[in-house]
Amino acid sequence: MTQDALKKAVAQSAVEHTLERIDADSIVGIGTGSTANFFIDLLAAHRGKFAGTVASSEASAQRLKEHGIPVYDLNAVNEVVVYVDGADETNPRLELIKGGGAALTREKIVAAVAKEFICIADDSKWVDHLGTFPLPVEVIPMARSHVGREIVKLGGDPVYRQGVVTDNGNVIIDIHHLHPIGSARALEEKLNNIVGVVTNGLFALRPADVLLLGTPDGVKTLRAEG
Ligand code: A5P
Repeated sequence: MTQDALKKAVAQSAVEHTLERIDADSIVGIGTGSTANFFIDLLAAHRGKFAGTVASSEASAQRLKEHGIPVYDLNAVNEVVVYVDGADETNPRLELIKGGGAALTREKIVAAVAKEFICIADDSKWVDHLGTFPLPVEVIPMARSHVGREIVKLGGDPVYRQGVVTDNGNVIIDIHHLHPIGSARALEEKLNNIVGVVTNGLFALRPADVLLLGTPDGVKTLRAEG
């Protein structure tokens, strides 16, 4: 099975999970990236069954609108029933690294609001310990050098992602050589405390609730281990 076939399978499974949770008034949170794109395309067939969506990026909002699916400002909705998004890495606790597509801040905001966070990923994203995938950090542009120096003090190797500006007008620093991350929650907090950091791509304080993992043997439904 190709990686795209696995992504499509988990996206289809996420559509089925979503349909079980929504009614005509529901708002669905939509993630960003290639796996989330499969989800958007498959969800489009059911667009009359829920009120609309909130999107974690301009790119996803655009794709939703092209399908005729309403997209709302998060401030205009009372509740997000479920948030469906991909990940760059997940461990057995369903702590994630996200932000390979630079959308981490809006993704973290929608995940924080959502009643349930369903992560969809092919099995290449499954790891025992996070940190092989470079950890993205969104940074206010004037703080880039300062944040880089603070990351070095934490033992990381900061690399400025050239030419990338986030939907919020900020820059991305990717932290290399963190593997294996011991306490993802502790590192998430330490990075958040650096002045100039908007957010970081560790989703450990608010991990996924459910992981739909695409494998050659089918889609596995996993919940966080202890
Ligand atoms: C976007 O910023 C990311 O958090 C994505 O969710 C993540 O990179 C997964 O993307 P793919 O589904 O394209 O692998």
